[in-house]
Amino acid sequence: MRAFLALNLAADLRERLHRDTAALRTAAPEASWTRAANLHLTLKFLGDVDETRARALSEMLRPVAARHPVIETTLARAGAFPDLRRPRVVWIGVRDDRALMALAEHVDRACGEAGFPTETRPFSAHVTLGRVKRPLGREAAAALAGAASGLHATYPVRFATVDLMQSELAPGGSRYAVVVSLPLGSA
Ligand code: 2AM
Repeated sequence: MRAFLALNLAADLRERLHRDTAALRTAAPEASWTRAANLHLTLKFLGDVDETRARALSEMLRPVAARHPVIETTLARAGAFPDLRRPRVVWIGVRDDRALMALAEHVDRACGEAGFPTETRPFSAHVTLGRVKRPLGREAAAALAGAASGLHATYPVRFATVDLMQSELAPGGSRYAVVVSLPLGSA
């Protein structure tokens, strides 16, 4: 299965975030925008992995998650990789990401011990709002940058579990399902 580890946003927050980012979609309708149900924060991408191996990994991660406190933070400004002038991935960031960084680092280390490739780039906490597949024209890029800088989506968020997610290709885009949910702060 195609798998990843995620911190999921509560359903009402996903809806609210989706609603409040409508101006971005209007600015660049040709980009591929994440639907509300799919908004999440990726902790670690696993790729194609056998389900048994993915479940075994999640059991190795259970004590790691348990040792980390529940994360309470705030979503922050919108931005893009590599930057808003040449956006490829449009995202919303997290204001105080220290607890997230520590969790991501420990999860990555445990994945490494289980034989998964570890990250070479530093973790960057973000919720992907959309992907730009073909470079935007100058006007659309400027409109998108304007909409992104005008966004004040400072919502409080609480992450209480690390979720092993399965991504399935479906007509109209990927569908995500929680396979195993690992509680934070239960140790
Ligand atoms: P991102 O959206 O936060 O960038 C499910 O596909 C999630 O896994 C995506 O949301 C994406 O995270 C991440 N992902 C997909 N393909 C990836 C890859 N090749 N390398 C790293 N992360 C990837």
